[in-house]
Amino acid sequence: MSVVLSELSDRILTVTLNRPEKLNALNAEVVEELRRVFHEAKANPEVGGLILTGAGEKAFVAGADISGFPALTPVAARDFARKGQAVLDLLESMGKPSIAAVNGFALGGGCELAMACSMRVASKTARFGQPEVALGLIPGYGGTQRLPRLVGKGRALELILTGDPVSADEALRIGLVNRVVEPAELLPACRAIAAKILGKAPLAVRYALEAVHHGLEMPFDEAEVHEAALFGLCVATDDMKEGVAAFLEKRPAKFSGH
Ligand code: COA
Repeated sequence: MSVVLSELSDRILTVTLNRPEKLNALNAEVVEELRRVFHEAKANPEVGGLILTGAGEKAFVAGADISGFPALTPVAARDFARKGQAVLDLLESMGKPSIAAVNGFALGGGCELAMACSMRVASKTARFGQPEVALGLIPGYGGTQRLPRLVGKGRALELILTGDPVSADEALRIGLVNRVVEPAELLPACRAIAAKILGKAPLAVRYALEAVHHGLEMPFDEAEVHEAALFGLCVATDDMKEGVAAFLEKRPAKFSGH
């Protein structure tokens, strides 16, 4: 059985990290499989969006696989971090919405993977944390950058410096997750959000993702120029004409993705 399962249904690719006996820890094989799955998802026009989750009741992903750490050299550790960062960057910048369905522990690389998604929905049983300092390490899959951008510098540093995990409700309070739901509602809730997004104009969704993702890294005025260019590009699409006509004619829009 593969360490990463993927299933396409109604244009939503559900990607399941599948090493439940090791709480879905990220080893080299899992990271490479994720790279392959994300690369194919980006290229496949049948995939409109992704949901990421973990196999089993207990964990989304309990972090990078610690069993490989004793053998790491500094050079290998840098390559390990750069590869993981590249895979998460690919997910974040693929132009398709992604939702982390966090069903349990999201620690270390698991929290970082969830943060690379467009949004996060947590089951009540989920726990989030960046425990690397307890191992003499720091987050290496973008956590030092994405966490402060999501929750602010002070809260990010509290999580990163103490290593303490937080509950799903606390994660909601600090803005690390978008919603908290009962465990049985987790995947249905994520599918409902994904379906809602997939009902909108696909190019507008793509450009909105791009405007937010790239714009946040630009000076404000340049980000506004970038936003305006993408706004203008939307006007060139068939779907903008259809969306506006449907509103004016008081009927549902039928988007073509062009
Ligand atoms: N890497 C490798 N193996 C891991 C792992 C990780 N990050 N997290 C859990 N596992 C393994 C455990 O070693 C154990 O394997 P075993 O049954 O062969 O001994 C199995 O998964 C179950 O974990 P266990 O620790 O027995 O479960 P628990 O309920 O007692 O504790 C956690 C759950 C998440 C609190 C605990 O596993 C933990 O602290 N994991 C490490 C988290 C971490 O530091 N992540 C960041 C890494 S940079």
